[in-house]
Amino acid sequence: MSQTRVAVLVGSLRADSMNRKLAELLRDQAPDGVTLDLVDGLDRLPFYNEDNDGTDVPAAAAALRERVGGADRVLAVTPEYNGTMPAVLNNAIDWLSRPYGQSALTGMPFGVVGTTPTQYGGKWSHADALRSAGIAGAIIVEDVTVSQSSIDVDVLADPEVLGNLHDAVARLVGFESATTAA
Ligand SMILES: Cc1cc2nc3c(=O)[nH]c(=O)nc-3n(C[C@H](O)[C@H](O)[C@H](O)COP(=O)(O)O)c2cc1C
Repeated sequence: MSQTRVAVLVGSLRADSMNRKLAELLRDQAPDGVTLDLVDGLDRLPFYNEDNDGTDVPAAAAALRERVGGADRVLAVTPEYNGTMPAVLNNAIDWLSRPYGQSALTGMPFGVVGTTPTQYGGKWSHADALRSAGIAGAIIVEDVTVSQSSIDVDVLADPEVLGNLHDAVARLVGFESATTAA
């Protein structure tokens, strides 16, 4: 069976991050034929600077581009910071988006899920991540967005929540467009 590799970008660097735990759980429970590849090292990316994006690209940025560009799908798993996506995720998308015309996200089906301890579950972060990734060339898979509040629910154990998240991954993997079907 052929494998579908989903590159996963986690938007929190916190050691005890709920979103990282969620990403690890989705990885560990991925169905046969699907590999969720948690892309580490986002904390080692320097802030994007066009002056450093010529022939001598920082090693962490080159590794990110190769790993994500070689995937079949991209899933961001992220909380929300101040009403938008955390800078670490935004920075990763910026590195992936360049060089201009050669974005590693071009034609890449992209979804986003995540959780925050507010009633909104990170929906502005998720909307912004989708918009940014889309401008960077990704194909936004509209029904692969789960903004899950963790106020009243154990996100890592609730069957309905986990079902929604697994369904989102399945829709991302199953997504076909004129580009991906080619
Ligand atoms: C700088 C900062 C800004 C935050 N802003 C928001 C916000 O706008 N909306 C929200 O739902 N939660 C916000 N939070 C709370 C985070 O969602 C919460 O800390 C979450 O657990 C972080 O995810 P993690 O557990 O994966 O690290 C913020 C947290 C920090 C540290």
